[in-house]
Amino acid sequence: MKKTEKLNLSVVGTGYVGLTTGLALAYLGHKVHCVDKNAEIIDKLERGIPTIYEPGLEELLKETSDNMHFNSSIKEHIDMVDVLIIAVGTPSKQNGDTDLTYVEKVAQEIGRSLPPDNPLVVVNKSTVPIGTARRVETVIKEELKERGIKGNFSVASNPEFLREGAALNDTFYPDRLVIGAEDMRSINVLRQMYSPILEQNFVPPRLVPRPEDYRLPAFVTTSPTSAELIKYAANAFLATKVSFINEIAGIAEKVGADIKEVARGIGLDKRIGGSFLHAGVGWGGSCFPKDTRSLLHAGQQYGYNMPLLKAAVEVNYRQRKKIIEMLQSTIKVIRGSTVAVLGLAFKPNTDDIRESPAIDVIEELLEMGAKVKVYDPVAMDNYRSNFPYQEIEYASSVEEASREADAVALLTDWEDFLHVSWKDIAPQMKQKVFIDGRNLLREEDMQKYGFTYRGFGC
Ligand code: UGA
Repeated sequence: MKKTEKLNLSVVGTGYVGLTTGLALAYLGHKVHCVDKNAEIIDKLERGIPTIYEPGLEELLKETSDNMHFNSSIKEHIDMVDVLIIAVGTPSKQNGDTDLTYVEKVAQEIGRSLPPDNPLVVVNKSTVPIGTARRVETVIKEELKERGIKGNFSVASNPEFLREGAALNDTFYPDRLVIGAEDMRSINVLRQMYSPILEQNFVPPRLVPRPEDYRLPAFVTTSPTSAELIKYAANAFLATKVSFINEIAGIAEKVGADIKEVARGIGLDKRIGGSFLHAGVGWGGSCFPKDTRSLLHAGQQYGYNMPLLKAAVEVNYRQRKKIIEMLQSTIKVIRGSTVAVLGLAFKPNTDDIRESPAIDVIEELLEMGAKVKVYDPVAMDNYRSNFPYQEIEYASSVEEASREADAVALLTDWEDFLHVSWKDIAPQMKQKVFIDGRNLLREEDMQKYGFTYRGFGC
């Protein structure tokens, strides 16, 4: 490995972004303090127990223990860090605006504990509305003023583009690194922090191999405002792309085309690209729903109408209703029927259920008087603690959930569901109806096993 000067870093917030970033930077040789107010989280992480489900995380926790410290506050180490990364949650408010309480609390704490002379680069990695880099700077300055000192710090915006379930891969092998900063010092320090990633001169972690076709990432420097908008625009574009293919899936169904063939046919055009063209029940998660809402809210604040984005959101939620319509057109009467919902997570390889399509679909089914059985390989505990419906039956396998059911509604594209013997399950169901909310299985196979199969756009 080429020798690069290692930095001391503090990463505040141990969610998907904070923990993954902290671990990756520790693996690359930096000294990292991961900070979280929640003592239980810190205790677990110190004992090497991951607090989120993410492939490869547990092994990396063990491997990085020499470079990694876990703390409940920044006070003890702020005087020795070069970069402090803010990666705390930024939930949605009722009106679609973003709640910056946690970000502002970190900024206050920085202002209260920053030593007078040590230079510090503060990095906004949380997804934040336009102007938050400025806001963080103002909050820190106000606190420093109270203390009668000026301090020596700068604030940069460095949005994150990692996907849950592939978080480590996306952190070690990004397409680009975006740094929004007003000063050269911040840019140089962050270039140094990311240099192993920019140059790819590290030995890949065992469970996170470098993709064969991977090319060195671009280092994009912009104004903080552009960086903030890049983050929202990227997520809004991807969300719109999924809604676009879902809208086309609807017309494909009407005219008798197959959306998988259509998606392949358009995705091979390099200007369009094949990813995010998978039709189905639509997007959920902590990012697309929140970020589209936040961007629409920004438009509203500026008196700027965003009809395209509004439509993308509308199409997305229509997909959830479509699951119910598919059930109505197959099993006909929902009341008194048993529906096995497979998949609670908003996407595979995560236990995250935030804004998952399953939440709305289950709620609607219960309201309509169906008996609901559910199964998910990892997200069941999470779902149960957030939605403690008495009437739901939790199954321990796909087979158990489907037994005696009138219909199966598959809502998450877990690979496990591909390896189930549907041939053996079919005879155990009351009515053999299969609603494939992710177009995961092959229609011909399912029909061969006796299922009435409905997918999106086929
Ligand atoms: C998304 C972005 O992809 C990341 O780049 C970004 O960093 C992240 O949000 C964030 O802002 O933190 P994530 O929400 O983890 O990542 O998940 P995606 O893989 O983007 O999937 C989002 C949703 O779209 C899922 O519900 C997925 O099932 C759905 N989807 C995705 C489709 O329905 N079809 C597709 O073709 C692709």
